[in-house]
Amino acid sequence: MSKRLPTKITTAGRRKEWTQGIVNPAVWRASTTLYDTVADLEAGWAVNEDGKLFYGRRGTPTQWALAEALTELEPGAAGTLLFPSGLAAISHALLAVLHPGDHLLMTDAAYDPTRNLCNGLLKRMGIATTFYDPQIGAGIESLITPQTRAIFMESPGSLTFEVQDVPAIVAVAKAHGLLTLIDNTWATSLFFQPIALGVDLSIVACTKYIVGHSDVMMGAVTCAPHMYSQLRLSSQQLGAFVGADDCYLALRGLRTLDVRLQRHQENALAVAHWLADQPQVARVLHPALPSHPGHALWARDFNGASGLFSFVLKGGDRAARAQLIDGLAHFGIGYSWGGYESLALPIDPDRFRSATTWRAEGPAVRLQIGLEDPQDLIADLAAGLAYYPAR
Ligand SMILES: Cc1ncc(COP(=O)(O)O)c(C=O)c1O
Repeated sequence: MSKRLPTKITTAGRRKEWTQGIVNPAVWRASTTLYDTVADLEAGWAVNEDGKLFYGRRGTPTQWALAEALTELEPGAAGTLLFPSGLAAISHALLAVLHPGDHLLMTDAAYDPTRNLCNGLLKRMGIATTFYDPQIGAGIESLITPQTRAIFMESPGSLTFEVQDVPAIVAVAKAHGLLTLIDNTWATSLFFQPIALGVDLSIVACTKYIVGHSDVMMGAVTCAPHMYSQLRLSSQQLGAFVGADDCYLALRGLRTLDVRLQRHQENALAVAHWLADQPQVARVLHPALPSHPGHALWARDFNGASGLFSFVLKGGDRAARAQLIDGLAHFGIGYSWGGYESLALPIDPDRFRSATTWRAEGPAVRLQIGLEDPQDLIADLAAGLAYYPAR
C-alpha cells in the first residue's frame, strides 16, 4: 500500500505494542525498570536494543514512537536519536563524528550558536573549523585538507536564506570519504529529505515546526544506516535523554505538521510577495521567490517552503527598525520560530560572518509567519512601513 508523506506523518511510530490500541502512545514516565530476578537483570546487560525497557535513559514507548516516526519520514534512514534541544542535537552529532586533530567545514550561514560551538568547545578539543561560503557548491573541494573529516550544512541559512547545493557538496564529500551533516530545521523532512540525497546525519530542532506550539525544546538526529549505531552509542555514553511528556507533545505536534506547514508556506508567501512590492523594502530573502538567488536550487530539491524568511529595508537604521518592529501588533518579538504565532526579529548577519561579507541596503528583519490571516499581518506591516524610516 502506498504511503505518501502526509500518510506517514499520521501513522508513523504508532505500533500497537506501544499504543495498546489507543490512538496515541501514553506518557510512559520512567527511571527504574524492575526485574523479576537477578538473572533477568543481568540478562539485560547483553541486550542493548531499540524498543527494550532497560533503564529510563534508554527510553520508553513514548520516546521510541517519536523517534520511529521521525525516522520513517526520511527515506533511507535507519534511526533517530532525540536530544534536549536543537543545539544539543547539533553538538552531539558533531562530537560523535569528530576527533581531536580533525578539521570541520562549516557553512558561514550557520545558526550562530553552531558557530559558537565550533569556535569554543570544538576548538578547545583541537578540532579546527573553516567556515565556507554557503553558495560554494562543488567548489568546497578546494577547502578540503588531509585532516578534514566532515562538512556541515544548513540550508537555507536561517537568517539570510542562502540555499546550498546539497547534492554537489555530498558528491564531493563522498569522493573524499568525508561525512556530511545538515541542519534541516527550516524545511523539516516534509519539505526536504537529506538522507535520500546521501547526507549522513540529518538534524532538526524539533523545538520549531515539529512541536509547532512554542512549548517544548527538543532536537533530533536522523541517521543514515552506516551512522546509526555510532550515534546511538555516543548518545548513550553522553547520557542524552528527553522526557516522555515532551516526546508526547512533540509527537502530537508532528501529526499536524503537514497541514501546519502548508498553511505557514501559503501565509508566508502572501506576505513575502507583498513585501517585495513595497518601496521601503530593498529585498526579500525567501527561497520560493523567483528573485531569490537560491530559487533554482530550492525548486530543484525542496517540496515546499516553510514560514521563515527575512527582508532588507531600504535605508534607515537600527533605531528606525526597532520602531517598526515595536509598533507591530500581530508579531511577537522573540527568538525561536516554528510555532503557530508570528514573530519579528531584528537581525544583523554581519556579526556572524567570517568567510563571506553581508552587504545590505539597510537593516534587516526576520519574520516567522504564523497561522493568522495573512491579510491581518500585511495590514500590520503596511501600517508600520508607512512611516519607515521616520515616524
Ligand atoms: C536553524 C536552527 N537550528 C538549530 C536551532 C537550535 O534549536 P534549539 O533552540 O532547540 O536549541 C535553532 C534555534 O533557533 C535554529 O534556528
